[in-house]
Amino acid sequence: MTRLRLGVNIDHVATVRNARGGEHPDPVRAAHIAAAAGADGITAHLREDRRHITDADIARLKAEIALPLNLEMAATDEMVAIALRHRPHAACIVPERREERTTEGGLDADGHRATLAPIVAALADAGIRVSLFIEPGERQVAAAIALGVPVVEFHTGRYAHRNGAAQAEELKRVADMAALAAKNGIEPHAGHGLTYANVAPVAAIPQLAELNIGHFLIGEAIFTGLDAAVREMRACMDAAR
Ligand code: PXP
Repeated sequence: MTRLRLGVNIDHVATVRNARGGEHPDPVRAAHIAAAAGADGITAHLREDRRHITDADIARLKAEIALPLNLEMAATDEMVAIALRHRPHAACIVPERREERTTEGGLDADGHRATLAPIVAALADAGIRVSLFIEPGERQVAAAIALGVPVVEFHTGRYAHRNGAAQAEELKRVADMAALAAKNGIEPHAGHGLTYANVAPVAAIPQLAELNIGHFLIGEAIFTGLDAAVREMRACMDAAR
C-alpha cells in the first residue's frame, strides 16, 4: 500500500491570531513546525470573508514553505485570480457560504459542471493540480470524471459526526467512492473532522493518497504542542496502513 500523505491545515492558527488582530500566533510558523514534524503538505483555505487565512498569509506560505501548498478556494473569479497569481501546487475547490461555521458539505460538482469547467481549465492550464471537495457519492464522482480533474477530496464530515452502524455506512461510502475514483484515474483524498480516534478506518482505505486535517490538530496543539500532535496523527495513520 502506498504511503498516505498528511496535509496539515493551518487555518485555525490564523483564527486565534485574528481574534486579537495582531501577528501572533503566526500560521506560517505553524507550517514550519508541521513540516518539521512530518507533514507532507500545507493546506490553507482563503475564505471570501478572510475570517482566518489572509492574502498575505498565502503569499508568505508560498514563498517560505518548501512543502506543497494546497489552496482551498471557492469557485469564484476572485479566488481563481489569486490562485493564478500565487500558483500553489494544488487548488481544492470547496463550496463556501458566508454564514457557515466551516465547510459543511461537499461541492455539488454535478450541479455546477458548467460553472466549474472553465475554472478547472484555467487552474490546470497554469499547472495547478485541481481537486474537488465532494461528498462520497456516484453522481459527484461522475462529475469529477467528466470535468477531468486529477484529484477529488471526499468530505468525511458525515463519517466523523456519526456513530455505530451509521458511521460504518458512511465509511463504506468513502471506501467505495475512493475505489471508483481510483479506477477512473482520479487520485482520492479525504478530510474534515478527522481525529486520533476516528482516523484509522479512513487511513486504512487503500486507494486514499492524502488526508487533510486541521481543526483537531490545532486544538490538540494547545495541550501537547503542534509538533507532537502532527507526529501522533502521522503515527495513527501509519499504524492503520
Ligand atoms: N479538507 C477540506 C477541503 C476542508 O475544507 C477542511 C476544513 O477546512 C479540511 C479538509 C480539514 O477539516 P478539519 O479542520 O475538520 O480537520
